[in-house]
Amino acid sequence: MLSFNEILQKIENEISQLSFEYPPKSLYDPIEYILSLGGKRIRPALALMACNLYRENVDNAINPALGIEVFHNFTLLHDDLMDKADKRRNKPTVHKVWNDNTAILSGDAMLIAAYQLIGKTEPEHLKEVFDLFTATALEICGGQQYDMEFESRTDVTEAEYIEMIRLKTAVLLACSLKAGAIMGGASKEDATNLYEFGINIGLAFQLQDDLLDVYGDTATFGKNIGGDIICNKKTFLLIHAFELANMEQKQILKDWIGKESFNPAEKIKAITAIYNTLNLKDITTAKMQGYYDKAMEHLSALNVLPEKLTILKEVSNHLMYRQS
Ligand code: IPE
Ligand code: IPE
Ligand code: MG
Ligand code: MG
Ligand code: MG
Repeated sequence: MLSFNEILQKIENEISQLSFEYPPKSLYDPIEYILSLGGKRIRPALALMACNLYRENVDNAINPALGIEVFHNFTLLHDDLMDKADKRRNKPTVHKVWNDNTAILSGDAMLIAAYQLIGKTEPEHLKEVFDLFTATALEICGGQQYDMEFESRTDVTEAEYIEMIRLKTAVLLACSLKAGAIMGGASKEDATNLYEFGINIGLAFQLQDDLLDVYGDTATFGKNIGGDIICNKKTFLLIHAFELANMEQKQILKDWIGKESFNPAEKIKAITAIYNTLNLKDITTAKMQGYYDKAMEHLSALNVLPEKLTILKEVSNHLMYRQS
């Protein structure tokens, strides 16, 4: 079996060999820019790890794994535009270095490049992987639509939030694992358990992302802190702040959310202070733990030797406590 570092090295090596040497260069420069900035590469790593549970040689899974990573990076170009985010991976976002239209069009080209890579799945598994990927990609668009719509709503429930993050984030982690399992030749039952493991790890992953957006450190997180607060994102923290707040705190939250023009640092400070008073960091961490435990149940249900699961357990644990 490959170690996590060997898997990451393989992915990094393959990504550095992706080349987009067609005119116009200006369409492809932003793609090379975002792909060169790294990131955790967690999705292709999950795909190769899942495949590696069933096969020693995972080279047949590399192209689809890269396709998923290129797709993920495409969603980031559009997401940063939608979220008005200026920083990612500690560098200015594509729409800041270039402009909004470049982020849209280079993003579109990345989506197509992702499909080209998925299309290189070996014929035996192509249809299944392609259908899974396509269904997942549409679900992500749905999740992103909910995420945007929730910005202007104040009655978003926890259940609606969980469904939104399942769609925008968890399904891609789940898809990566399931695609890897399919290409490894796993049984249907194992592929489903890996998918459900991915959903639960993905929900915990997005909860941690919401936490880091408030409590992270820009230098390690690589994104500006407080972006969700500024955009009135209905994160787990904000939804529960409304639920737990007293009359006075509720009014403060409402006032900030309703303000059209404000000093961003002041808004972040005021809302974070309420989160602190209401102990929302601990409440969110407890929720994450619940999903982590469910994820572990699906992992334990796999029909593989328990020692083979160590790497996925370690990675899950690392993702739970990640700071970047
Ligand atoms: C960012 O994903 C988008 C979310 C789903 C939270 P990652 O946190 O995996 O970003 P990179 O690829 O490591 O930069
Ligand atoms: C991103 O959610 C989900 C997708 C990109 C599909 P976020 O908007 O929270 O991700 P970050 O924080 O910008 O990475
Ligand atoms: Mg965002
Ligand atoms: Mg977003
Ligand atoms: Mg975020």
